[in-house]
Amino acid sequence: MTDRKGTADSLAGADGGSTGQGDADAGRTDGVTSDDESTAGVGTTAGGSDATDATSAEGSGDPAVELSDVRKTYHLGEPVHALDGVSLTIPSGSYTAVMGPSGSGKSTLMNLVGCLDTPSEGRVEVGGEDVSGLSENGKATLRGEKVGFVFQTFNLMPRLTAAENVALPMVFRDRSREERSDRAGDLLAQVGLGDRLDHQPSELSGGQRQRVAIARALANDPEIILADEPTGNLDTDTGSEILELFQRLHDADNTVLMVTHERHVAEHAARIVHLLDGEIDEIETVESPRRVAGRDAESGDGNEGESQDEGERGDEGERGEEGEAVAVDGGTGDRGANNDPNEADGRAR
Ligand SMILES: Nc1ncnc2c1ncn2[C@@H]1O[C@H](COP(=O)(O)OP(=O)(O)O)[C@@H](O)[C@H]1O
Ligand SMILES: [Mg+2]
Repeated sequence: MTDRKGTADSLAGADGGSTGQGDADAGRTDGVTSDDESTAGVGTTAGGSDATDATSAEGSGDPAVELSDVRKTYHLGEPVHALDGVSLTIPSGSYTAVMGPSGSGKSTLMNLVGCLDTPSEGRVEVGGEDVSGLSENGKATLRGEKVGFVFQTFNLMPRLTAAENVALPMVFRDRSREERSDRAGDLLAQVGLGDRLDHQPSELSGGQRQRVAIARALANDPEIILADEPTGNLDTDTGSEILELFQRLHDADNTVLMVTHERHVAEHAARIVHLLDGEIDEIETVESPRRVAGRDAESGDGNEGESQDEGERGDEGERGEEGEAVAVDGGTGDRGANNDPNEADGRAR
C-alpha cells in the first residue's frame, strides 16, 4: 500500500547530488568548515516547513501508525497494565519523541509499534496493517517490511562487517546479493561511513556503530523508524550526530519515533508523548523543535524559528574539526575522541 517516497530511494538518489546541502553549508555560522560539500543524502529531499505542527500539518496521507485504545496486560502474579488504553496516531513523516518514567510503558509501546508483540486489547496498525491478531510469522514479516529499529546498544552482529550488517535485513527481501551489497554501501555512505564498509563493529566507535545501525534500520525502506534511547550510550557530541541524522531523515519525510529520557533530546521532535502509568499523560507540541546546530539542511524554505540551538551551541554544536560526521564520504577520520562508550556492544538481535 505504501507509495510513499522511499527512504531508500531518496537516500540512494542522493548520490545524484540534487541536494540543498551545499547551500546549507555555506550558511553555517558555527565555524564548521565546509569542505565536505559532498554532504548529502539522508534527508534533503523534503521541506520540513510545517514541522512544528505535529498533529495535523506534519506528515501526510495515511498515518504510519495508529493505536486505538491499546492495552497490554502482563500477568505475573498481579496483573500489570503496562499500557492502559492508549490511542495515538503517528502521521507519516512525523517526528515524535516518547518520554516517561521508568515503568510507564515506553518499551511496551515500542514493542507493539515494532510488531514485536501484540496488544491484549485494542488495535495497532502499522502502515495500514493490523498487527493485533498476527501470528509470530506474520509479525516477523510485517516487522521486516515496515519497521526499522535503532537500539541503545546498537545490536549489530559482531562478526559481520558494517556492510553485511546493513545488508542483513534485506536477505528476507527479494533482492540479489549484489543489490543488497550495493544498497548497503549506499546507505552507509549516506550516514558518512562509506569508507568503513568492511569494518566490524569492534573496529568502529560508538557513534559509528550507531550510524551503521541507522543505515541498517533504513535497509527495507521502513514505514517507521523506531529508536529506543538511540543516544543513550553516546557522549553529547556523538549523540548530536545521531540526532542530526534523525533530523535529516525527518526532513526527508521519514517517520521517526524515539524514546528518550532526556528532554533536550526529545525537543528535537515536533511533539512529545508523555506516558505515565501506561497512559498518555500529555501530548506536547514542541513549538520550535531544536535543530542540531550547523547543518540546517534546507536552503531558503523558511528555517526561521526552527533553529533553537543558538543558546547552546556549546552544548550540541561544537563539532568543529569533527564536522565530517554525516558527510557522505565520511571524511577521513578516525574519530579519536570517541573511544567507545559502549564496549559491551555486540549482542546480536
Ligand atoms: N514481559 C513482561 N512481563 C511482565 N511485566 C512486564 C513485562 N514487560 C514490561 N512489564 C511491566 O510493564 C510495565 C511497563 O514496562 P515498560 O514498558 O518496560 O516501561 P518503560 O519502558 O517505560 O520503563 C512495568 O511495570 C514493567 O514491569
Ligand atoms: Mg523501557
